[in-house]
Amino acid sequence: MKSAFSSAARLSWGLILVVLSSLTAAMGQAPIRFVKTSKIFILDAGKVTYVFGINEQNILQHIYWGGHVGREEDFRTPSTEEWSSFDLSSTTTPQEYPGWGAGLYVEPGVKVTFPDGNRDLVLHYVSHQIAGNTLTVTLKDVQRALLAHLHYTVYPQTGILRREVTIENRTDKAVVLESAQSAAWYLPQGDGYRLRYLTGRWAGEWQLTEEPLHTGMKVLESRRGSTSVQANPWFALDRDGNRDSEDGSVWFGALGWSGSWRISVEQTAQQQVRVTGGFNPFDFGYRLGAGESLTTPPFYAGYTDGGIGEASRILHAFERTEILPRGSGSGTRPVLYNSWYATGFKVDEAGQKALAEKAARMGVERFVVDDGWFGQRNDDHAGLGDWNVNLQKFPNGLAPLIRHVKDLGMDFGLWVEPEMVNPDSNLYRQHPDWVMHFEGRPRTEARNQLVLNLARDDVRDYIFDSLDHLVTVNDISFLKWDYNRNFSEPGWPEVPPEQQKNLWVRYTQNLYDILDELRQKHPRLEIESCAGGGGRVDLGILRRAEQVWPSDNTEALDRLTIQRGFTYAYTPHIMMSWVNDVPDFNRRSAPLQFRFLMAMQGSLGIGADLNRWQPEDLAEAKRMIGHYKSIRDTVQNGLLYRLASPGTGNVSASEYVSENKSQAVLFAFLHSQQFGRTLPAVVLQGLDGNATYALSRLDAKPNEKNSILPLKLSGAYLMEHGLPLLLEGDYDSTAIKFDRTPP
Ligand code: GLA
Repeated sequence: MKSAFSSAARLSWGLILVVLSSLTAAMGQAPIRFVKTSKIFILDAGKVTYVFGINEQNILQHIYWGGHVGREEDFRTPSTEEWSSFDLSSTTTPQEYPGWGAGLYVEPGVKVTFPDGNRDLVLHYVSHQIAGNTLTVTLKDVQRALLAHLHYTVYPQTGILRREVTIENRTDKAVVLESAQSAAWYLPQGDGYRLRYLTGRWAGEWQLTEEPLHTGMKVLESRRGSTSVQANPWFALDRDGNRDSEDGSVWFGALGWSGSWRISVEQTAQQQVRVTGGFNPFDFGYRLGAGESLTTPPFYAGYTDGGIGEASRILHAFERTEILPRGSGSGTRPVLYNSWYATGFKVDEAGQKALAEKAARMGVERFVVDDGWFGQRNDDHAGLGDWNVNLQKFPNGLAPLIRHVKDLGMDFGLWVEPEMVNPDSNLYRQHPDWVMHFEGRPRTEARNQLVLNLARDDVRDYIFDSLDHLVTVNDISFLKWDYNRNFSEPGWPEVPPEQQKNLWVRYTQNLYDILDELRQKHPRLEIESCAGGGGRVDLGILRRAEQVWPSDNTEALDRLTIQRGFTYAYTPHIMMSWVNDVPDFNRRSAPLQFRFLMAMQGSLGIGADLNRWQPEDLAEAKRMIGHYKSIRDTVQNGLLYRLASPGTGNVSASEYVSENKSQAVLFAFLHSQQFGRTLPAVVLQGLDGNATYALSRLDAKPNEKNSILPLKLSGAYLMEHGLPLLLEGDYDSTAIKFDRTPP
C-alpha cells in the first residue's frame, strides 16, 4: 500500500499522523504523571504545568510552575550546590517541602521537637501514589518514623492546584510540631516581583496593597484565632511591572483556614521567591501523640498570563465550582432584607412583621432578623450564649413571625453568634470554665463578651445542640453566623499543659465540625459568615457558607473601595452588599440610586429602616430590585472586569459579562465632577466582538442627557471605541445592561 502514495502525499500523511498522535497524547495524557527515567512528577492543570522531582540526594525538589509545557524531557532535577559554607545545598536547593534540619535557613515546611530533645528533621522521598487528579508523595525523616504525606490535587478547568500535608507520627512517643505548613510554592528565580495583598481593620476592610518584593521576608498573618480583617490569607505576585490588569504573568494563592494562619513571601539571597503558608507558627506547639496525624489547611494556588484581572476571574470560578457548599449548583443568591440597622436590638414580632410586609412589596426574597431576639439581649452587655427566644419580645416564639414572612413569599433567616458568651448570661453563670482562659488570670472582654473554648468537645456539643434545636423547631432557611471579637488568653487549663496549645487547631476543627454536621442534618440551610464584617472570609469557611458579610461599613463610597478589594480574591457571588440609610459612615449622604447601584455589584440586600422611606423611595427600590433580578446571574456568576478604580480617580467602573457573553452590565460612579470636564469613554472588555448588543439603562432616574443612548452597539465598537458615560455633578451613577441581539 505504501508505494501507492506519492512522496508528497506520504509527507502530508506523515504530518497528519504526527499531529494526530501528539493530539491524542495531549488529550489522553493523565493530568498527573511520574517519569521514571528522570524521577519527575508532572502536574498538568489545564493551561498550567507544575513540575518537581526527586533529586540525587533523594530530596523532593521544585522545578517549574507556569504556563503549559508539554515536553517531559525538558525537565531535570539536579540539586543546587552549596554556594558557600554559609549557604548550604539544603538551603539553596528549592526543596518542595523541607523539614527544619541539616542547615536550612529558609522557611521550613515542618519543624518538630522529639521528646529526647532532638530537633533535626530531614525529609527524604519514600513513595508516591497517583489517583486521577490527585497525587500523594510520602516523605520520611532519614532516621525517625516521622512522615509527611504531601497531597496534591489538580483542577484542570481553572489551573488551580491544591496542596496540603498530613504529618504522621509513627514513633512510639508524642512529638511537638512547632510549625506545620501546607506548601512551599516557588516562582521562577529572579527579581522584579510585585506583591499584592489585602489588609484592613473593622469598617475599613479589603484594602489592596501593591509593593515591590525585595530580599527578605514579608509576613502576612493572623495571630487572632480567626481569619481576621487585618490581613486576608490571599496573595498575588507578578513581575511585569505594569498596572495593566489584563496582561502578564501572575502567581496567586489562598489558604483554606479560618484559624490563625500565616503566609510568608520570601526572596532569598539566591533570588529564589518562595511562598510558604499554613498554620501560624506563633505560639504554635501541636502535640502529636504516638500514631496520630495532623493535616494542614489546604493551600490553593494558580498561575495565569492574563494579568491580575484573569487571576481574580480564575479564583472566582474556582470558588463557585469547587469551594462553595453547593458548587456548580449554587444558583443565585436571594435578595435579602436585614433589620439590624433599622431596629438594632429592639426587635419584636409586630415591628418585624411590619418591616417584612414592606420588604416583600419591594421584591425582597429573604427576611432576616438580626441580633436581639434571644436571651436577655437588650443591648450588647447580655444574652450571648442563651439561644432561647426572648419571650418578652416574641411572646409566642418565632413561629408566628416566620409564618407571616413565608406567607409574604419570602424565606426566613436569623442572626446567631454561637462561639461567644456574655458574662451576664445563664450559660456563663453555669459554665464559667467554658471560655478560653488562663487559670486565675483576668479574662479580657471585648464588646462585653468572651470567647467560648470551642476546642472542648462539650462546648462543641452545646453549640451544635443549641443550633440544631433552633433550626429543627423553627422553619429557618438561613443563619447569619457572626463572630465579633478575636481570641485573648487562649488557655485551656483543663487539659495537661503539653496539650494546651492544640487549642489553636482544635477550635477551628470543631467549628468546621459543627457547620458540617448542621448542614448535613439540615441540607437546605444556608449560612452567611460574618465577623463584625469581613473577619472570616477564607476558602475554609467558604466550603461551609454560601455568602459572607464583607464589612459593617455600608457607606456607598467607601464600599466601592471595599468591594473592589474583596473581588481580587473572592467572587461577587458571595459578596453581600446592602443599601442603607444616609447619612451613613463618614456622615455622607449618597443618593439612593448610587447606593443601589453600588450594592447591585454583589449579592443585593437592603438594610435600611423601611419605615422611614417615602413612597417614592419604596417605588424606586422596587424598580431597582427588578433590574437587579434581570442581571443577577451575570453579576454573581459571570466574569468581572474591574475597569476604573475608586482609589485612583473620580470615577469607578466595573463590568460583568455572562459566561456565554450574551449579557453584560456596566456600573459606573462619579465622585465629583470638576472644571466642567466630561468623562472619557469607558472601554468595555470581554464581549463578543462580532455580536450586537441591545443597550438598556438600569438607572432609577435617568437624567435627560444620559437617556440619549444608542439602542444597539456592536461588541467591537464597545471594546474598541467605548461608551461615553456623561456622568456629572456629585455622586452621579449609572448602570447599563447589554443583551446580545440580532444585528
Ligand atoms: C456585628 C455584625 C452586624 C450586626 C451586629 C449585631 O457587628 O457585623 O452586621 O449583626 O454584629 O450585633
